[in-house]
Formats: sequence, C-alpha cells, structure tokens
Amino acid sequence: MELFDLLVVGGGPGGYLCAERAAQGGMKVALFEKRALGGTCLNEGCIPTKTLLNSSKMYRHATESEAYGVTASGVIFDHAKVVARKNNVVKTLVAGVGATMNANKVTVITGDAVISGRADDGFAVTANGTTYTGRRLAIASGSETVIPPVPGLKEGLAAGFVVTNREVLDLMELPKEMVVIGGGVIGLEMAYYFASVGVKVTVIEMMPKIAGATDPEICKVLTDAFEKRGMVFKLSAKVLEVKTNSVIYEENGQQKEIACDKVLLSAGRRPATAGIGLETLGLQMDRAAIVTDRHMCTTVQNVYAVGDCNGKSMLAHTAYREAEVAVNHMLGKCDEMRYDVIPAVIYTDPEVASIGHSKEGAEKLGMNVKEVKLPMSYAGRYLAETNGGKGFIKLVVDTDRNRLVGCHMVGSYASEIIMTATMMVDTELTPDRLKKLVFPHPTVAEIIREAIFHI
Ligand code: NAI
Repeated sequence: MELFDLLVVGGGPGGYLCAERAAQGGMKVALFEKRALGGTCLNEGCIPTKTLLNSSKMYRHATESEAYGVTASGVIFDHAKVVARKNNVVKTLVAGVGATMNANKVTVITGDAVISGRADDGFAVTANGTTYTGRRLAIASGSETVIPPVPGLKEGLAAGFVVTNREVLDLMELPKEMVVIGGGVIGLEMAYYFASVGVKVTVIEMMPKIAGATDPEICKVLTDAFEKRGMVFKLSAKVLEVKTNSVIYEENGQQKEIACDKVLLSAGRRPATAGIGLETLGLQMDRAAIVTDRHMCTTVQNVYAVGDCNGKSMLAHTAYREAEVAVNHMLGKCDEMRYDVIPAVIYTDPEVASIGHSKEGAEKLGMNVKEVKLPMSYAGRYLAETNGGKGFIKLVVDTDRNRLVGCHMVGSYASEIIMTATMMVDTELTPDRLKKLVFPHPTVAEIIREAIFHI
C-alpha cells in the first residue's frame, strides 16, 4: 500500500494550504474533501458573501448618490443574476485551488474521509472504500452551523423556510421579510446585504448588543447605520419558536411574533469533528474542539489540527497561518502561532476592522495603556468620499513598552487599512518609528498616521 508523508482531512483554507506547503516542502501528500475544494470560505462563506455584498454596494451607489451629484433612474437589482455571478466567482476560485493541488502533485481524493486509527507506519484514513496510510495526519475538518434547541427550527430547516449560511447564498428570489437569528458576523453581513436591496430585515440577538466582542462604540455606529437602512434589532431577545411563516420571540418579558417568509439561522458555528473517526486516535478534545498547542500539534504525536476544527479563531486567514505553522513544525522549522495579531473584519457598510487588544482587554492583562480616538474625517479622502460618515479609529498603546497593541476602526476601507496596523502591532514598531512612515496622500489609511501623532 502507498505510504504518504501526510494525509490532510478537509480541503478548506487550512487543509488545502497545509497540503500545498507540505508538498512544496518535499512531502508526498493526500488531501481528502467530501464537497468542493475551498471549504466554507470559498463555497459558502468569505468569497460568496463578499461577491453578493459588492453587488448590493453597487446598487446602493446607483440609487443613493444624489448628494454626490449623481441621480439614476430605472435601476434594477437582479438577485438571480447576482447569485449566478457569485457562482462563477466561486467556480473560478475552486478550480484555482484544484489547479494548485495538481501543480504541487497533491493527490486529491473527493469523498467522505474517516480516520480509522493507527496503521503500522502512522495513520489510516478510509474514503470511498479505500484505505490510505500516512506518516502524519493533519485534521482540517472545519466547522458547522450550531442549531439551537428551538422548537420548530429543525422542521423549518427541512422545509427550507429556515436557511443557514450555505442555503442563503443560493436563494434565487429575494424574500420580502426576513428574520435573522443571531447578530454576529454572518447575521450582520447577510442582513446588511438583504436590507440594502429592499428586504425588510429583523435581527433577533440574545445579547444586549450586536457583533459579539466588537468595541461597543463601533457597535453603536454600526447599529445606527443599519437602522437608518431600515433594519430592526431585537436585542436581549430570546427566540422561543419557529412556526411556518413566523418567529415567536421574547422581548422585555413579553412574547411577540414576527411574520416573515425566510429565516436565516446564524447563531454561531462549532468545530465539525463528529463522525470523522477522531475517537480512534484518542486526542484530547475541549468539547467539539481539538486541543492544539502553539505549533498546531494535537496531543497525539504527528497529528495536527488546523482551522476551525481547533475552535481557536474561526477565520480563514487564521487557518492559513495555522497551516503554515503546522507544516513548518513537520519540517523541523522554527515557527509558532500568535493569536494576538490576527485581524478581524466585518464587511458591511461601514466596514469594521480590528487587531490586537482593546483598552479594557489590555488593562485586564495588566498593561498600562493609552487610547487615542479620532474621527475618520481627519483623513481628507474619507471626507471627500462620504457624506456625514461617523467612522472613527481607536489606537491602543502600551505606555510601558512604548508599543502599539491594538487598533479598532469603523469606516470605509477599514478592511484594507487594518493590515497597516497589523504590521505595526506584529513587528512591535515604536510610535516614534511609526511617525516616520510615509503614507500616500490622500488615503483613508492616513488616519493611522494622524492618530499616532495624537498619542
Ligand atoms: P457568531 O458567534 O459571530 O455570532 C452568533 C450570534 O448569535 C452571537 O451574537 C450570539 O449571541 C447569537 N445567538 C446565539 N444563539 C442565539 C439564539 N438562540 N437567539 C438569538 N441569538 C443567538 O457566529 P456567526 O455569525 O454564526 O459566525 C460564525 C463564525 O464565522 C464566526 O466565528 C465568525 O468569525 C466567522 N465569520 C467570519 C466572517 C468575517 O471574518 N467577516 C464572516 C462570517 C463568518
């Protein structure tokens, strides 16, 4: 039987990059994927949602630009065409991953892989009735939608009245009224898309604010912008039941009902680790998550876990980095994972982006910090391109170490600008050194330079 150097279970960003890097490092690699290469990110997450959001942005520009001297009439939003374009974008990228695997001589096996324990020389994985063996194993099985125990939810999912992040991307018609359960990242991005193109959207969130751990002042700007767009938020609200064409929830101790023709379930994701034979390895788990160390090693030698399945930070860019760290460990190269320098973005309008610690978070860790907050309108380009925008930036500086330790932004281009701050936090430049960096003018990114001079 053919012996591989590495078997990778799961072909999302964590898995395919792990396979690619390992192959480039000289290993003979097999990659197992039961659906399409690219995983959640390419097929039902990052890429398709950004494709949809861009179409809704174009629609808004076409219909809401009178203040900028642009008036258009007869503008049509063709949702089916948007979905068709999204499918093409996804197809192209998935094909690109396939081509990369081929180019690196990775053996791709399309099928449901089940780990069947240890083999003589390492580990065994069975797919499509064939058993493959490898010296090492990388688990990159991703995550799955959490289905809370709400009466009627499972039936609603079966009937198609309730959809998850997967099915919502393929609706061929816009609903009229949509209820979104969960005001986290998925809920907000999709709610924003639908609300932007005329769907009446109500978000039911059990916490008192949206967007999870995002800076509360940023959440306020977001909430105001969304409400202006007609979105309704039911905060500190509990979903009690999903019926045939409505959702029953509790708000301020009162039971209420909202009629709708579609429900999006976005109440969180959890590591997809059941049913893949992990019990045959005896790995340490933390509930559904595979426990890993800073080299992405599990508690079983030569078994690694990268991406959402280790539950550390469910982001595609985290998975990429984890994949590289894992492969470097396999190759005996010095590397380790740093979770404190991973940027996070919410791709709504305005965009939200952050890196590192908040003031409160840093103080909890015992740091002495100073926070600087500036409106984005300090950047000329922001003012030129927005009308009454409420964007701002917050920089958090560790005053003892004289280092930038956090940056939090809401406003246009935040998703692109955050990398500038990420480099500063990661490479530990001093504010004095940062002051010497030349930013192109005019750019919204100049807000970082401006804020540094206010420290
Ligand atoms: P999430 O954890 O971000 O948000 C789930 C929200 O649902 C939370 O606010 C929670 O309080 C709420 N919730 C839970 N149960 C509820 C209930 N029964 N009723 C009402 N509210 C309830 O999870 P989400 O949005 O599903 O995203 C999953 C993962 O995907 C996250 O880890 C996220 O980082 C990732 N993701 C990242 C994106 C990005 O980077 N831009 C985009 C989309 C997803």
